[in-house]
Amino acid sequence: MTEDRKKGNSSKWRPQTMMVRGGLTRSEHGETSEALFLNSGFVYDSPEEQSARMAGDKPGYIYSRYANPTVRMFEERLAQIEGAEDCRATASGMAAIHTMLVAPIKPGDRIIAQRQLFSSCLWILKNLMPKMGVEVTWLDGSDLGQWEDATRKPCRFALIETPSNPLLDAVDIRAVADLVHNAGGELIVDNVFASPILQRPIELGADWVVYSTTKHMDGQGRTLGGAILGKTSKIVDELQQYYRHTGPSMSPFNAWVVLKGLETMDLRVRRMSDNARVIADRLATNPKIKAVRYPGRSDHPHHNTHASQMPEGGGSMLAFSLKGGGDAAFAMLNRLGLIDISNNLGDAKSLITHPATTTHRTLTEHERAAIGLDDTWVRLSVGLEDPEDVAEDVEQALAGR
Ligand SMILES: Cc1ncc(COP(=O)(O)O)c(C=O)c1O
Repeated sequence: MTEDRKKGNSSKWRPQTMMVRGGLTRSEHGETSEALFLNSGFVYDSPEEQSARMAGDKPGYIYSRYANPTVRMFEERLAQIEGAEDCRATASGMAAIHTMLVAPIKPGDRIIAQRQLFSSCLWILKNLMPKMGVEVTWLDGSDLGQWEDATRKPCRFALIETPSNPLLDAVDIRAVADLVHNAGGELIVDNVFASPILQRPIELGADWVVYSTTKHMDGQGRTLGGAILGKTSKIVDELQQYYRHTGPSMSPFNAWVVLKGLETMDLRVRRMSDNARVIADRLATNPKIKAVRYPGRSDHPHHNTHASQMPEGGGSMLAFSLKGGGDAAFAMLNRLGLIDISNNLGDAKSLITHPATTTHRTLTEHERAAIGLDDTWVRLSVGLEDPEDVAEDVEQALAGR
């Protein structure tokens, strides 16, 4: 057996092969599917061995809060797919973003953040960072002029989400990465909405990519998880001690589920993106709908940026605004017969939510207005059902039949 086959980490493989085989490390039993190492601790042949491993003088696992063979297979596979040097898996997407921001930051540092972020990220930046003596500069992520102003003085990090939750705004990753680097900072991209199938931030100049694996990577609504991807030296120097000693690690079981999810992610994400396109086009002609936001449609205000960063598809997420306002949105949601009301996304099942009263309810009205979100908007995560059935469900719910 060749080393490539044994270790499953060949850099020669094309992306789809990495998704199925990347990071695969077989035990002495030669199992076909990846093994689930559902153990918290590890045993040693001798106290000398234990002491050497714990001192870092000998390789080997120590404790699953630090690392675990199944979790490691997931981390290696995702790093290969992303084109990143390394990865750390976390218990949720928010554990990834929290670790990423808190572990390296120092009092006096400055973070630049777009206003168009998932609300829990906003919470960390608004509530936790000031307590730690960190300044946050807010801007509209799609406005490069604001980025130019914000990067005139040094920054430690910039955090962006593109396409953003919930209105699918775009940030020009390459242009922003250049500006942030000139200000001495590092760019973190939350790539949840696109997934690594449709957008590759590291190739566009990002330093770090963060994920909620709860979404497209699991893809079937089973587990919570997250991931941080970046350079090995940075992970080791800036995140590793925090990760080991504060315990945001992913459970081996969840890692195993998501590792298997990666094998089919390419097929699922591409199909969901194709389905979303069909549905977005159908809804755009519906007389009850004021506006549809879909990254793949040319009427999206940031379509050109999306098209250059996500050339193979607009993704599985879309949003639409109802002419009848918030009451009409609730009435429509109440009439749905197929699509589930849920704040999750990236699932095989189509899921719908009313962001102003759910995912973005903690924002003030003023903050929602600043990102163009009012109660007329509904966010749809398109799944793997027949898109005709999903479109018909929205249409019948809008018609009020
Ligand atoms: C864009 C984005 N980032 C991060 C998260 C957080 O992920 P998790 O729920 O796994 O903590 C979410 C969750 O909805 C999200 O939509």
